[in-house]
Amino acid sequence: MEDPKLDWDALGFNYRKTDLRYVCHWRDGQWQTGYLTEDNQLHLSEGSTALHYGQQCFEGMKAYRCKDGSINLFRPDRNAERMKRSCARLLMPTVSAEHFIDACKQVVCANERFLPPYGSASSLYLRPFVIGVGDNIGIRTAPEFIFCVFCVPVGPLFKGGLQPSNFVISDYDRAAPNGTGAAKVGGNYAASLLPGTEARAANFADCIYLDPMTHTKIEEVGSANFFAITHDNTFVAPRSPSVLQGITRASLLELASSRLGLRTVEDDVYIDNLSAYKEAGACGTAAVITPIGGIQYGGRLHVFHSEHEVGPFTQRLYAELMGIQMGDIEAPAGWVEKCDCPAPQ
Ligand SMILES: Cc1ncc(COP(=O)(O)O)c(C=O)c1O
Repeated sequence: MEDPKLDWDALGFNYRKTDLRYVCHWRDGQWQTGYLTEDNQLHLSEGSTALHYGQQCFEGMKAYRCKDGSINLFRPDRNAERMKRSCARLLMPTVSAEHFIDACKQVVCANERFLPPYGSASSLYLRPFVIGVGDNIGIRTAPEFIFCVFCVPVGPLFKGGLQPSNFVISDYDRAAPNGTGAAKVGGNYAASLLPGTEARAANFADCIYLDPMTHTKIEEVGSANFFAITHDNTFVAPRSPSVLQGITRASLLELASSRLGLRTVEDDVYIDNLSAYKEAGACGTAAVITPIGGIQYGGRLHVFHSEHEVGPFTQRLYAELMGIQMGDIEAPAGWVEKCDCPAPQ
């Protein structure tokens, strides 16, 4: 395996072409045999529904190199299930969990030289996606589909390590009630490009969306979920039908209870009640855990624990989550799927 000679600790969250990606076509009512290819360009009909009507969904997950050299996938069954829900919401054929996980493993093994070493701040990000393709013009589901998985070695989405970032409340909505907020579909992210750009131009890491009905409750942090910890040690994750059901969020809800002894609740987080929380954070596959230093709203910055230091519970949750993902801390049953790659030739 030729060393790609990357500075593993300074990768950032940027695209980089890796060796092979998995491609599988859906034609004649079924998924055909998938294959790995060096070609990172897709050849699509100009009438593809993915291009015009946003008929596409995706996933984001990571592979981690452990101390003993083995490779961990973190709860890939959860990503597989979420992609099934996203496909169903957009009238696309679903990919079975076996097919999904097998494709991910093939891609990890085919690009093993890009897997960041144990102990670096980076990991191998996997991007599975399904798109509607084929000749079409009317607003209807596509005649054909493509399921792909590619991978990119990445560092954290927000600034390196466990450093607090400030966020700003957005006036825009990310998702409509009963819309597609709970599905991981491109349209949600297209809608977030302008608010996110405006937030960064004002020197914030990203924006926070409020609930679209009343604009009083926190929903989501850019492309990550929100959590907060009350002064009496309750871990709170916003309750909303239009929030993406993050796998990191679900995992933190469990770890906060089982490993940190916190009470946990999914509840409304009112923007005019931020003083109820002593710590807050953004969590997701790409964001990992990003402590929220402060939130800008109504002309002032509300600071939680500190703008510069990480709160103790956020610190412990981060250590627990990373320890499990990297294989240093025992994982709850079923959370880690080993990816066994054949020895290099
Ligand atoms: C809008 C949004 N919310 C939350 C998350 C977190 O989900 P997960 O923990 O499954 O990565 C993501 C993905 O990273 C996201 O795009």
